[in-house]
Amino acid sequence: MDEKIKNNYNQGSAMDLLWKKIFPEKEYYENIDVLIAGCGTNQAVYHAMKFPNSKNYAIDLSDSSINHVKKMIIKFNIKNLEVEKKDIVDLDKNKKFDYTVSTGVIHHTKNPQKSLNKLVSVTKNDGALFIMVYAIYLRQGIYYLQDAFKYLGLKPNKKGVDLVRNLIRLLPQDHYSFNYINSAKRAGGTKDLTYYAGIVDTFLNARDIAYDVYELKKMIEKSGAFFQCWQNNNYYYRDLINFSKEPKLNEQYENLGPWAKADFTQKFSPNSGKFSFILRKKF
Ligand SMILES: C[S@@+](CC[C@H](N)C(=O)[O-])C[C@H]1O[C@@H](n2cnc3c(N)ncnc32)[C@H](O)[C@@H]1O
Repeated sequence: MDEKIKNNYNQGSAMDLLWKKIFPEKEYYENIDVLIAGCGTNQAVYHAMKFPNSKNYAIDLSDSSINHVKKMIIKFNIKNLEVEKKDIVDLDKNKKFDYTVSTGVIHHTKNPQKSLNKLVSVTKNDGALFIMVYAIYLRQGIYYLQDAFKYLGLKPNKKGVDLVRNLIRLLPQDHYSFNYINSAKRAGGTKDLTYYAGIVDTFLNARDIAYDVYELKKMIEKSGAFFQCWQNNNYYYRDLINFSKEPKLNEQYENLGPWAKADFTQKFSPNSGKFSFILRKKF
């Protein structure tokens, strides 16, 4: 399990690696209250085991995810993880957390704005949130396929997944979706398309929204939190593209605000299918 945690705990929300970005004003400590909202099968287990001094509360809507987590709690005798079947919007407003983690979840909820607002409201005033939502840039072609598969009535079951696999083989080689498909396959990619649930999640999900930078900005502005930083700046600043022979272009770029820089970078060189970022509370 230790090996698994080391290799698979890659949601980027691990607080030891990220501490200076999450709480730049605080010394590192582990005995904090953590909420993992939309925990799926492994995330909360990894978090609790990796940080034995933290207190973790995890929720998810799915029975199978919750049951799996419960089994893991027994199997590994995990004492610092409580898990419950619950919708994000039904979280108890009186129970507050230092660190709220929700990766790959709110873009699947009925009302992502309401979900984000709820997560902000259950975070302590001096707490922080680590959120990941889909970004449209690398995923554009995936939405073409989601729409195309809806025309064919494909369902999120074994037959639907087999058909998706076969239909992908028929795509023209320059179909937009290959930006995403190839990046998921690469070393360090999500590997989502190598397993059943990943294919359902990518192509046959009933509810799935991706944002551009400005849509994300708007959602954050309405949430009661403020944007502190990206988890990884590489995706949102154009450091690798230097207009060395056209200094005016560099100047033009440097004069852009941070959101415009991020939008430029992803539109010029789309390599991000998700936004991972840290929010802090306005209080
Ligand atoms: C793509 S998985 C991500 C799992 C995990 N956060 C991770 O990063 O590995 C999305 C999870 O969110 C859960 N989910 C979707 N809508 C939810 C909601 N409204 N409240 C709580 N969980 C939800 C799903 O059941 C699913 O387990």
